[in-house]
Amino acid sequence: MNVTIEPIAERIGQQITNLDNVSILEIDKERIISLFKSDGVLLFRGFDTDTDIFREFSNLFSTDFIDYAGGAFARRVINGDKTLLSVNDFKTAIKLHGEMYYQQQIPLMLWFYCATPASEDGETTVCDGREFYQEISSSTKELFSKKRLKFTADFSKEDWQKKFKTDNLDKLAEMCAQNNTHLQINLDESILLEYVSPAIIPSRCGQYQVFINSLLPAKQISPDILKFDDNSEIPDEVIRELNEIAERITTNISWEKGDILMIDNTRILHGRRAFSDEKRNIYIRLCSPAFAF
Ligand SMILES: [Fe+2]
Repeated sequence: MNVTIEPIAERIGQQITNLDNVSILEIDKERIISLFKSDGVLLFRGFDTDTDIFREFSNLFSTDFIDYAGGAFARRVINGDKTLLSVNDFKTAIKLHGEMYYQQQIPLMLWFYCATPASEDGETTVCDGREFYQEISSSTKELFSKKRLKFTADFSKEDWQKKFKTDNLDKLAEMCAQNNTHLQINLDESILLEYVSPAIIPSRCGQYQVFINSLLPAKQISPDILKFDDNSEIPDEVIRELNEIAERITTNISWEKGDILMIDNTRILHGRRAFSDEKRNIYIRLCSPAFAF
């Protein structure tokens, strides 16, 4: 098979580059699965792709696609397919995070597709949560072993109906129960949600600790929604330490048109750099691996 496979960067991932007009749908599936399991993030570059090929390729490896109900950002549905979404609708940077770690049911796997790269900036950032854990000071590790993260958010009736893609309170209550999220419904049908999660989780193989959560963007975008579960504040010096580590060990992925990125959302954090180009267009699919994982 005429492709090269080499690390995306010194410390992370594998890049599969097309050398000779190989169809992405014909590359060795078992090899991809094995690389995904060992490295957690794969970048496919130089293949002849479009939105349909992206969908077909990601379908080969994935199941249980979700429509992002309960998600934090506004995403557009692409080509009428509820499992093919735009990334969010603003241009500022987003710090490293695991996708949807503010609720229990996370997508285990993510796909990104670069329909149109930004003319400059707008890189997607990635980082291995195992490496992140190793960089954290022992005092901060100790703090996270004692205290969990508590996300609290209130929504007007109109806002939760949009966010959860339903206007039915029973259905909302069911979704919250499935997500271990405490739901308070007010008289005007506005709601208050509360969800507690650890900042550090064991890896799926059980051999590593992984720092993966939604802490950094929550503190960046809506600092009031996040505290520890005993209602104490997360100290500023801890946030500073985490931001310093994130910046130091992040890898930037400079998009090229047609790139596909496959991410293990139980291990690899992602984010993005700010950009100004209106034409930047990256799609996302949220799902689970269709193989033993
Ligand atoms: Fe994300």
